[in-house]
Amino acid sequence: GNRSTGRMGYEVAAAAARRGAEVILVSGPTHLETPAGVRRVNVRSARDMYAAVLAEYENADAVIKAAAVADYRPAETAEHKIKKTDGPLTLTLTRNPDILYELGQKKRGQILVGFAAETQNVEAYAQEKLAKKNLDFIVANNVAEKDAGFGVLTNHVKIFFADGRAEDHPLMAKAALAGVILDHLEEALQKRA
Ligand code: C5P
Repeated sequence: GNRSTGRMGYEVAAAAARRGAEVILVSGPTHLETPAGVRRVNVRSARDMYAAVLAEYENADAVIKAAAVADYRPAETAEHKIKKTDGPLTLTLTRNPDILYELGQKKRGQILVGFAAETQNVEAYAQEKLAKKNLDFIVANNVAEKDAGFGVLTNHVKIFFADGRAEDHPLMAKAALAGVILDHLEEALQKRA
């Protein structure tokens, strides 16, 4: 239900592989090419993504959850084409699992990094997700800004950390932001060790 292309996640995966990490990229449908040195697992639905991420979780040192997962799915799947009538059509939606929340609940030393795409109250909502999903840090952006978020090569973010720190960043290429995120991840991994 949004215009996410997967670009931010692909930039992070590419940069992590270049730094020598073993990278598993769980990806929904996109036109982007699999970065060099990355193992890609293709999924279509939020539930498939949940299963694929969970299957790797136990052996992972970190999860960076950049996917803009749909929060809802249609409650029923039609076996045959839905024929139109003159009136409106009402679809009932049901909740998808919140993958990152579940990872937060099952966390055993993994570093968890989330994103928060908001259109208002960015800081408050980001802080709330950081706590609720049990994350180490969260990368928040206002997707209403024209050069940030879905379908563009740049992003404009503020990063909030579990220890209360917050870091403002200028508008930058998603490839550069991937480097910033991985620097913080390396720092978190070192602290954990
Ligand atoms: O959608 P929301 O703003 O809550 O997303 C915050 C974080 O949670 C993101 O890192 C996103 O990848 C993750 N998320 C998820 N499963 C969902 C919805 C969001 O893992 N169903």
